[in-house]
Amino acid sequence: MTKVGIIGAGQLGQMLGLAGRRMGLEFVFLDPSEDPPAAIVGPVLKYPFDSEEGLARLAEMTDIITYEFENVPVAAIDRISPSTTVYPPAEALRYAQDRLSEKSLFESLDIPVPAFRAVDSADDLMRAANAIGLPIVLKTRRLGYDGKGQFVVRREEEASAAVAALGGKDLIAEQWVPFEREVSAIGARNVSGEIAHYPLTENQHDNGILSVSRAPADGAHLETIARGYLASLLTRLDYVGVLALELFVTSDGLLANEFAPRVHNSGHWTIEGARTSQFENHLRAILDRPLGDTSMRGHAGMLNLIGEMPADRKELETPPWHLHDYGKAPRPGRKLGHATIVSATADDRDLALRRQTREPGP
Ligand SMILES: Nc1ncnc2c1ncn2[C@@H]1O[C@H](COP(=O)(O)OP(=O)(O)O)[C@@H](O)[C@H]1O
Ligand SMILES: [Mg+2]
Repeated sequence: MTKVGIIGAGQLGQMLGLAGRRMGLEFVFLDPSEDPPAAIVGPVLKYPFDSEEGLARLAEMTDIITYEFENVPVAAIDRISPSTTVYPPAEALRYAQDRLSEKSLFESLDIPVPAFRAVDSADDLMRAANAIGLPIVLKTRRLGYDGKGQFVVRREEEASAAVAALGGKDLIAEQWVPFEREVSAIGARNVSGEIAHYPLTENQHDNGILSVSRAPADGAHLETIARGYLASLLTRLDYVGVLALELFVTSDGLLANEFAPRVHNSGHWTIEGARTSQFENHLRAILDRPLGDTSMRGHAGMLNLIGEMPADRKELETPPWHLHDYGKAPRPGRKLGHATIVSATADDRDLALRRQTREPGP
């Protein structure tokens, strides 16, 4: 029986494991936290992510290793990869961990990006403001997630405080993009180089955290362009696994924001909404199996459950909703679960989503 090792035992590891069990796979996880969500799927080796002993044990116990989050130390992957197969490749991690090299990679592939500059001082930020114009989104180059480690700088007077608040150096200044919508292009590439694309997904964020995804997103021409960008990224990185590319839709077309070398929150709808989920296709890709059908079963909507589970969860437990509870302790800003609906029409789906988010109609 094939045993898959996963670095990280959060909800993404849990959903990878649940998909993989149906394929007859076994799982072992590496995660230092207490009672992680993936513990319901397989044993968890309780070590820090860069523990030499932990990684060696994981490699010993499994046939192949993958990861569920992009801040796995690259040095740790490099240490185990000569003797163990690790996918996605470490090169993808290296780019995804540093917003500056990530944006430079996009540029080298002719994928349009918002104007950006490296910032290591308040003076650098002033120069960037002169070149790009205000507002600017100032971000840490590394370790940001869910909108953490970033500030919108609207006036020159805010520059030095913003730089100081983010640690003074190793920052990136990006043009603030007045986007119309945000979308993600999710795809998989297997060891043999076969590529499969999911329908483009539209994403709504709340305080920097994904709150609602809808697929398919409007705009067939945008999807064609996004697929081209995604395919060139996958090919350039000799990528294996699922990758998500986040894009801004502007009046001038698409601008790439960032990519995640892993299964992605904006692809959770694929569990019920696509013929093959992103989790199954990630496993197919790393095991070099032919990729599964990515077509839709309807119009899918996904609602993130953040901070606390809804007091009355009955409705989300009732079909046509599918409730996924990760089993995590509530905490403000924490992703505790999600709910998916697949409807016959986009209108039906949007109505159901609005009832849950209590948003006024169009
Ligand atoms: N340059 C920008 N212009 C406008 N909005 C932005 C910009 N960069 C980020 N945002 C907003 O902040 C969200 C989180 O930023 P992102 O770069 O994706 O970081 P994270 O790693 O935290 O997801 C984005 O989804 C978008 O809504
Ligand atoms: Mg993001």
